Amino acid sequence: MTLLIRTSILALCAAASVSVEASGRVDNFRLLDQDRLAHELYYYEDASAIVLMVQMNGCPIVRNLLSDFRALRDDYAGRGVEFAMINPTLQDTREAIRQEADEFGIDVPILVDETQLIGEGLGIDRSGEVFVIDPKSWTVAYRGPLNDRVGYETQRNDASEHYVADALDRVLAGEPVEQARRRTQGCIINFPERQRQEAHAQISYSETIAPLLKKRCVTCHSPGGIGPWAMTGYDMVRGFAPMIREVVRTRRMPPWEVATDYPALHGDRALTVEEKRTLVHWIEAGAPRGDGPDPLTEVEPISEEWALGEPDLVVTSPPFTLPATGVVDYQFQAIPNPLDRDVWVRAVSIHPGDRKVVHHVLIGTTEEVIPEGDDRRFNAVFDNYLWGYAPGADYYEYPEGAGVLVRKGGQIHLQMHYTTYGRETVDETRIALYFHDEPPKYHLRQQVVMGTDLAIPAGEARHEETGYFEFDREAEIYSLFPHAHFRGIATGFDLVYPDGRREGLLQVPRYDFNWQHTYTLAEPVIVPAGTRIVHTTIYDNSARNPANPDPEKTVTWGLQSWDEMLYGGFFFRWTEGTAENPAHDDLAFRIGQFFGGWDDDFDGVLQAAEMPDRTREAFEGGQLDPFNVDGDDGLSPAEYRAFVEYRRQQRAEQEASAAGN
Ligand code: HEC
Repeated sequence: MTLLIRTSILALCAAASVSVEASGRVDNFRLLDQDRLAHELYYYEDASAIVLMVQMNGCPIVRNLLSDFRALRDDYAGRGVEFAMINPTLQDTREAIRQEADEFGIDVPILVDETQLIGEGLGIDRSGEVFVIDPKSWTVAYRGPLNDRVGYETQRNDASEHYVADALDRVLAGEPVEQARRRTQGCIINFPERQRQEAHAQISYSETIAPLLKKRCVTCHSPGGIGPWAMTGYDMVRGFAPMIREVVRTRRMPPWEVATDYPALHGDRALTVEEKRTLVHWIEAGAPRGDGPDPLTEVEPISEEWALGEPDLVVTSPPFTLPATGVVDYQFQAIPNPLDRDVWVRAVSIHPGDRKVVHHVLIGTTEEVIPEGDDRRFNAVFDNYLWGYAPGADYYEYPEGAGVLVRKGGQIHLQMHYTTYGRETVDETRIALYFHDEPPKYHLRQQVVMGTDLAIPAGEARHEETGYFEFDREAEIYSLFPHAHFRGIATGFDLVYPDGRREGLLQVPRYDFNWQHTYTLAEPVIVPAGTRIVHTTIYDNSARNPANPDPEKTVTWGLQSWDEMLYGGFFFRWTEGTAENPAHDDLAFRIGQFFGGWDDDFDGVLQAAEMPDRTREAFEGGQLDPFNVDGDDGLSPAEYRAFVEYRRQQRAEQEASAAGN
């Protein structure tokens, strides 16, 4: 036993010290830049080289080198070299870095290493140092100054030595760099943890590490949970330690990436900066067991009791057989609604049949029965949306006094996302609904910001689509559900108040199609009439996006995962509305859903170029002139609404006369 532990600690030490100093290899990492876009090092696998300069606000050497850095970037960008900076300082906040970038015209990503873990691994010591990384071997081909132009209190007009350019020429030619390491003159960066390796070996597994894993990971990494391995004790954790280090450094686990200086969320899963440091330092110190009991051996199995008590209705999804391996398309299932009366739902709960495979479930209802094979099945859950389940959140109770009305008959729709785990299995997921005894005070509503006219050019790595919904009366917002497909990489919501003030509501710097999270605000937000909720998603349609099914294709709106969506769902209520007196203008509501997606310049008027084809033709042909009351170059929501009402009326008359014939 002792021997076993000792050898594995040795193995770990070797793995953990895979820092640049030891073996020359750079481990993968993912960091957010000054604009909160996520960058993963190994994403740039096909680059011919990666140039990373250490940046620190207020360091004169870095500032003086910026023009040389830009010139170098312009010289080599066409040859497949990627350029970025990294800021591993304790003192520079993202906001301060963004300001420095604006002030000094830094137009490359500055990766913010707030935990200092990446800087420690790279052995960074001074700002101004430049790393030339060769992605073919993930080794550092050169580290040192950019050139010999700038030193402490010395600066010349021209450099006589161009170290980084020379190193790049060598790497591009597939040759080794003659002098791979040079001393950098720059500002010393404080890495306090670097001197604390002995203290890291004293971090207590029993009192610190195991409780941390229990709090942040065990909901999924338990026997029968969705995590592929269970944290059942020290031996498991020790075995997976190098992998834990990797998933923390690459921000893959826990699967929750939300900007922290935004309104707080319920059930936030993120590791704090301090927790990340503790976990990785403990692993890098050899993941010592130390003394004390092992809290992970007493993890309780997930209860199969309904946490909210006896449900009013339980329905079960049709049995679905998953193969042992491979990717399973989303399943769109429909269950006949067995109720013979209308009900107000107050809570929803789910028990996946096989927790290891159920990655998410979205639930909604339709009054209509949509037959199998009908394309409308893809979107049916959103017609009268109830909730979205993801592992670790087994139920959702609506806000006090609020409910969703489910009419009798029709169907209960499920969108199921399954992942395989190496063994065939059959899933039958149970959905429990809880009803209000009396109609609730408030009608909980779901609305969506939709951009149905999106077009993501083939090959584009950073394409942004945005749209809004304007509240026509005061509203209280509860939760947010951003949704995109394989190409979505970042997403978020902002509020723009009637006075023009803009406030962030949610930012997800790394969207992952596999995790369809509903983000519930810890404190609901009340917004006055005229406020817009703005939803923005960034898409990566390049070949570098490993999830991209076809980088050659310009992608447009569609329900299938290989098409795309700009889809920002949210739950809210009208503050004046009650269940009896809903204070709800349904036609305006339906128009609002599309209007803010079409209105590309956000000016509140649909100009011809922004209109859907048929409307544009009518507008340009003059048929819409009677509706364009103010005679300007487009239609306001009220004008558009009058036109829709007219068209509806016309259609009704046609139908009536057809019926009369
Ligand atoms: C919400 C559920 C959930 C939580 C919470 C969670 N994991 Fe995971 N974990 C998964 C799933 C599912 C996978 C399989 C890969 C995937 O689907 O992304 C996984 C995979 C992993 C892997 C294997 C890496 C791989 O994909 O090969 C490691 C290591 C890991 N998790 C560590 C952690 C740690 C450490 C924590 C807590 C800090 C954590 N996880 C929290 C669900 C979770």
